[in-house]
Parts: sequence; C-alpha cells; structure tokens
Amino acid sequence: MAYLNENYLKLQAGYFFPEIARRVREFCEANPEAAKRLIRCGIGDVTEPLPRAAVEAMKRAVEELGHSESFRGYGPEQGYEFLRSIIAQHDYRDRNIEIADDEIFISDGSKCDCGYILDILGDQNKVAVPDPVYPVYVDTNVMAGHTGQGTKDGGYEGILYLPCTAENDFVPEPPKEHVDLVYLCFPNNPTGAVASRGQLAQWVEYAHAHEAILLFDAAYESYISDPEIPHSIFEIPGARECAIELCSFSKNGGFTGVRCGFTVMSNSVLARTENGRRLPLHPLWQRRWSTKSNSVSYPVQRGAEALYSQEGHKQVRALIDHYMGNAKLLRGAAADAELKAFGGVNAPYIWVETPDGLTSWEMFDRMLRELNVVITPGAGFGAQGEGYFRLSAFNSRENAEEVARRLKNL
Ligand code: MLT
Repeated sequence: MAYLNENYLKLQAGYFFPEIARRVREFCEANPEAAKRLIRCGIGDVTEPLPRAAVEAMKRAVEELGHSESFRGYGPEQGYEFLRSIIAQHDYRDRNIEIADDEIFISDGSKCDCGYILDILGDQNKVAVPDPVYPVYVDTNVMAGHTGQGTKDGGYEGILYLPCTAENDFVPEPPKEHVDLVYLCFPNNPTGAVASRGQLAQWVEYAHAHEAILLFDAAYESYISDPEIPHSIFEIPGARECAIELCSFSKNGGFTGVRCGFTVMSNSVLARTENGRRLPLHPLWQRRWSTKSNSVSYPVQRGAEALYSQEGHKQVRALIDHYMGNAKLLRGAAADAELKAFGGVNAPYIWVETPDGLTSWEMFDRMLRELNVVITPGAGFGAQGEGYFRLSAFNSRENAEEVARRLKNL
C-alpha cells in the first residue's frame, strides 16, 4: 500500500474558512428565517463587480484566442512579459524601487504562492510567524513537514510564534533568538495593523544579522492611505538581499475568483545548502515554475494588465474607496457599541475585542444568533487571537450600513 503524507495528520482542524462556512450552513438550515437576514462579514472575499477595464481586456483576450491569426497556446511559465514589466515598472520602479521585470513571477494568487514557495526552501528552516496570523502560512508549513506536532493552544511545535497584541500595536518585534524564515503581512490580516518604515527596517536588520529571509505578504498594500506607511518591503534599504514579496490582484482588482497574483523574487536573495554554499533562490524559483506550471491563463493576465491602465487604475481606486468607506462605517459602529476596535484605517479588516469576556467562538455564535451577522473568530488565527473577532469590510454599502445598525443592538 502506498504511504500518505503524515504531515497532513498533524493538522489540528479543517481549514479555518470552510469550518466557518460549515457552521453558518448548519445555522441557516436550522433557522431559515434568520438565514434570509444573514450578512457575511467573515471571509475577506470581495463583493463588487470586476473593474470594467479588466472585463473588457479579458473579453478581447478570449476573442483573440478564437482566431487562428491571434491564437496563443502555452504562455511563458513565469508569466507574460507584458504583465511582468508593467508590474515591475508601476509598482516598483515608478516608486524608485529597483526591481527587474524577470524578478516578477505571475501566479494564481498569493494564497497559492504561500504554499509554492516552500518547494524551494529547506526543511531545516526555523520558521517564525506572527500570532494571530493568516492560517495559510502555518498550515502550509505543517503540510510540508516543517513543524512538529500540534500543541494544546492550537499551535505547532517547532514554529516560533510572535505575539501581536494591543500592547505592541499588533506589530511584532524581531525575536532575540535565531530563525531562518519570518512571515510578515502588512497591512495585516487579520488585525488591520500597519508597520512603519522604522519597524520594517528593524526586521530587515534582523534578517541581515541572522541571514534570515522575510516572506512579506503585501496583498493589502493598496488599502494604505497614510503616506508614511511603506507599501512594499523593498522600500526598506537592504530588503533586496533578504525579502520575498507576495502580492495579489484579489483585493485591489477584485480577482478573488479570477485568480492572479505575483511574487517578487530578487536576484540577490541567497539561501544556503547543507554543506554551506550560498546560492541565489531566483534560479530555483524560475525552475520551479518551468516544471510545475504553465502560469495563469492569457485572458486573466490581460485582465490584470488592464488594472494598470488609466481607466483600470481609477476603477481600482473606486473599489478600494468603496471598501474603505465600509471599514469606516463598521469601525465607527463598533466604537458606538462600546467595543474596542483596531485596524480598519489602512486595511479592510477591523479587529475587535470581544465584550463581556466572551471567547471568540462564543462571540461568533452570539453575532450569528442575535444579529445574524457572520464574523471571523480571532482564535482561528492563533492563540493570541482569542478574545478578538475580525469584521471584514468586503461588502455592499447597504450590507455594511445594516451591520452598523445591528451592532447597536448588541
Ligand atoms: C481572509 O478572509 O483572511 C482572506 O479571504 C483569506 C484569503 O485571502 O485567502
């Protein structure tokens, strides 16, 4: 009989968001009237239609594929040049960040990249994650065998958890001890916190001192409105040598269902072999894509390219303004309900302390039963998420206003 990957058996629960969906489904089946009033502020999934520029570009691209003179088969495994170069130019070089076109790798989204990147990193690495954290960073490491067994508090042996609390404004400091890989996400999912230039510089300094790599998730960078807050880890001097950035069109272009993102892998990031050679990761990443993928479909890449056009840019801005309008409403309503709320200013998530000493799952149940609103319980993001819940601003304005009204009855 074939052997299975026993690392999967270490996973302590089903993936977090399907688990929430299951509980909501059960509630709706048992309460059909309440189900009609249900509003979802749980998973951070976009609700508004795609930017028109992307829709038209994808339609044109599909049409091209339908004619022999413009038909295309397999594309370049790392993504089409037209998309790689517009990203490198617009997101980096226009901001005075030195990134070459071939340092951009197109993918089907940054959730997927979180798993893919482990293909080229060794099993020996000591990994650090913030707590609370986007569960994908942890689960992919468990699946890859980079951790020990689960612990009682929902964590895993072998991972260093960096507490993010109200005391440190949900931005962890570099640890005293050595780690090889550090996951950072700013603007943060789930807390909505942002890191200042100084705080990120401390991390780059740590990475240099420890020859560590920072895996920087910038999926929510376009929600930053404060001009002092960096959008990319590469704004910090020295980051080219120690950081890999994960980016996504899901939350700016509304591509959660379309699927497109990218990683920025500079030619200067090195990692070591068992016998002490220091080698660049870029050729391994290049090789990984050539072997395991044929990239994202041509129409989707044209759709992503269109987000950078003048029209596309305006439409993306309008989407972000829409969601941030919701965030403002929800954060205000939480405060009016005398809840202690964080985030929601440079990020589409509001991180709220549970009232009356409720656990985060108790709060989830209460919000579902009393207000018919789905939230995300903080404990699902890690032990430090206990006592908090996350409100997502991804919704229609009408729903956000209704949630704000319902919060008054809490
Ligand atoms: C979330 O709700 O945390 C996000 O939707 C997860 C994701 O982007 O994969």
